[in-house]
Amino acid sequence: MTIAATQAFPGPAWDELPDVQMLETWPPAEPLAGVEVLLEAVVAVGPDELDLLPDLRLVANYGVGYDRVDVAACRARGVAVTNTPGVLDAAVADLTLALILACRRHVVESDRFVRDRRWEHGWAKPELLGRDLAGSTLGLVGFGRIGQEVARRAEAFGMRVVFHRRSGGVPLDELLRTADVVSLHVPLTPETHGLVSRERLALLRDGSLLVNTARGAIVDEGALVDELVSGRISAGLDVFAHEPRVPERLLELPNVVLAPHIASATVETRAAMTRVLVDNVLAFLSGEPLPNPVDR
Ligand code: DGY
Repeated sequence: MTIAATQAFPGPAWDELPDVQMLETWPPAEPLAGVEVLLEAVVAVGPDELDLLPDLRLVANYGVGYDRVDVAACRARGVAVTNTPGVLDAAVADLTLALILACRRHVVESDRFVRDRRWEHGWAKPELLGRDLAGSTLGLVGFGRIGQEVARRAEAFGMRVVFHRRSGGVPLDELLRTADVVSLHVPLTPETHGLVSRERLALLRDGSLLVNTARGAIVDEGALVDELVSGRISAGLDVFAHEPRVPERLLELPNVVLAPHIASATVETRAAMTRVLVDNVLAFLSGEPLPNPVDR
């Protein structure tokens, strides 16, 4: 059986896999017969790609989000899909807090201020005055494992936490209207695509902060850029609608902190994700039930 991968994944569990064929390009330049298992991260796997792997039986997705894998197309061809949930909640929550702190306390701007040798005397300029986390309200859109980890951290900083989720909590529009900081923690699905629309962005309070460590396409990115250019709100963004493309207009703005999709990027978390991915592949190879099947 041939296992192919779009890249190698870090950590000791990787060595437990039998031979892995590293793909030079994605999608492959020509059809590859015999590949039954595909290991991939953040690449599109849809009907066109599946046509190139006619013997595929398993797509093992490195990451909890699997929005780039067309699960219905896989299912129609008898291809199982797995992901790596549960091991990256803390890392994503940590980065969320890092972005909140960076934005609310102007950490990146302050760094530039010093490096540009603009610190001549005295304390910070008025434009570097931040806002306290303590006493402010954090609105979480999504309250699954990651959202709950963010809530625990935010409460330790003295924030008041409210949340919205499909099954309850504060209505979304009310949350957007009232929170000082809004952080997104829902998967990208047809229901959440564009959830934070231009109209909803307009509900955000003046001076509020939007943090996105989930998926770029959950927000109307063009409308978000317009809001940020206006200076009315600020943002901490780890994800974008068309990665690795970042809207040009964001690059010069002082009121946005940008990161290249690093929420799960710690040594420990990435190794743990590899462990989960490998466990799924080993279960598949030995005909056992898959630990983390994705079914929709
Ligand atoms: C995921 O697992 O979906 C994350 O986006 C990876 O950083």
